[in-house]
Amino acid sequence: MAEFTLPQNSKVKPGVVHNPEAKSADTRAVYIYRYDPDTDENPRLDLYYVNIKECGQMILDILLYIKANLDPTLTFRRSCREGICGSCSMNIDGTNTLACIKHIEEIEGDIMIYPLPHMEVIKDLVPDLTHFYDQYASIKPWVENNNQDSSSENLQSQEERARLDGMYECILCACCSTSCPSYWWNQDKYLGPAALLQANRVLSDSRDSKTDERLDALDDAFALYRCHTIMNCVKTCPKGLSPAKAIAEIKHKLENRK
Ligand code: SF4
Ligand code: SF4
Ligand code: FES
Repeated sequence: MAEFTLPQNSKVKPGVVHNPEAKSADTRAVYIYRYDPDTDENPRLDLYYVNIKECGQMILDILLYIKANLDPTLTFRRSCREGICGSCSMNIDGTNTLACIKHIEEIEGDIMIYPLPHMEVIKDLVPDLTHFYDQYASIKPWVENNNQDSSSENLQSQEERARLDGMYECILCACCSTSCPSYWWNQDKYLGPAALLQANRVLSDSRDSKTDERLDALDDAFALYRCHTIMNCVKTCPKGLSPAKAIAEIKHKLENRK
């Protein structure tokens, strides 16, 4: 049987134990992936004992507590702390989600925190999303309308506006794309669920007149058809959206055009 093993410099080693003296009934053990590109060292898993009576209720509160009180070198992204900006996405307790809306109480036992999977890591919990944003830009996520008289408003009926429900709410957190096995293995060519949901959002907009050009660009064996409806994207989306449904709708639009 074939044996697979990580390259030596990718193996995650046991890390530093912080604040062990605080261990009590009120503390939780929090394991966090650490990686510093400025050293030659392997990634490691640090353990922090955090008194959850001293911080707020969310995983982001634990991270902020650690940074302020135990270890200022811990690096992560966050901004809005209310599930709107998408910047605190990470893998918590085995699932991609937003740290600011993930309750500590939902997790039993030790708390495990890693960066979003299958992405280059810049530092600690910060993945490199350059390619993800380039793919987003490639689908031209803005309304284009050649028929529009620029002197008047481009109005929508309530029904036309309702067609965007389930897509306009996407905050581009990348939880879905980084949970998708097809994206893990083919992200150089497959657009992934987030960019495709955004593509369908513009395709579904009654104010856009570039439907044919958009469908031509998506009609590609890799860009679109690498989705095998595994549905991880739906399970993980912290906003309750269904990228898989959006991808199926794009495929229907292509079929109907034929
Ligand atoms: S579809 Fe959901 S998981 Fe994917 S980027 Fe948008 S909000 Fe995040
Ligand atoms: S349904 Fe498609 S996009 Fe979603 S996880 Fe599965 S393969 Fe990826
Ligand atoms: S901090 Fe903005 S979504 Fe979590």
